[in-house]
Amino acid sequence: MIDHEAAASRLKPHAVRAAGFSYSPYSHFRVGAAVISDAGKIYAGCNVENGSFGLTQCAERTALTAAIAQGAAPGSLSTLLIYIPGDTAHAPCGACRQVMNELMSEDSLVLSCCDGDAVQAWTRAEYLPDPFVPDTLLK
Ligand code: THU
Repeated sequence: MIDHEAAASRLKPHAVRAAGFSYSPYSHFRVGAAVISDAGKIYAGCNVENGSFGLTQCAERTALTAAIAQGAAPGSLSTLLIYIPGDTAHAPCGACRQVMNELMSEDSLVLSCCDGDAVQAWTRAEYLPDPFVPDTLLK
């Protein structure tokens, strides 16, 4: 059994630090994310906006792509924590849910936190109940 609560406590300072690096001159909405692998390695990311708005990358996908780029095995990522300054624990966007579903482990958990006590948490089945599963593309 994964201790997601312990993982979330470890991840929070990384997500907070990453939010400080957020490049968000258009929305001014800073987002940090950190994800941990089965091996205990932590990867962090922030949102990176672009003047061509559609190119904006969310913090969650930045963290997940950093993990893969640094050698984490797809499916080995067990807990992902989102941090957004303020007193609301915001939910992740739909695009990030699709990517989380593909790269995180079956029993993974996604959590969202803020500066207050509010926390939200979702299993894979909760955040993406009927996912596009690209199995056939691998054959
Ligand atoms: N954003 C994230 O980083 N993660 C999400 O799950 C939702 C939105 C970013 C994208 C953009 O830079 C800003 O928040 C406002 O949408």
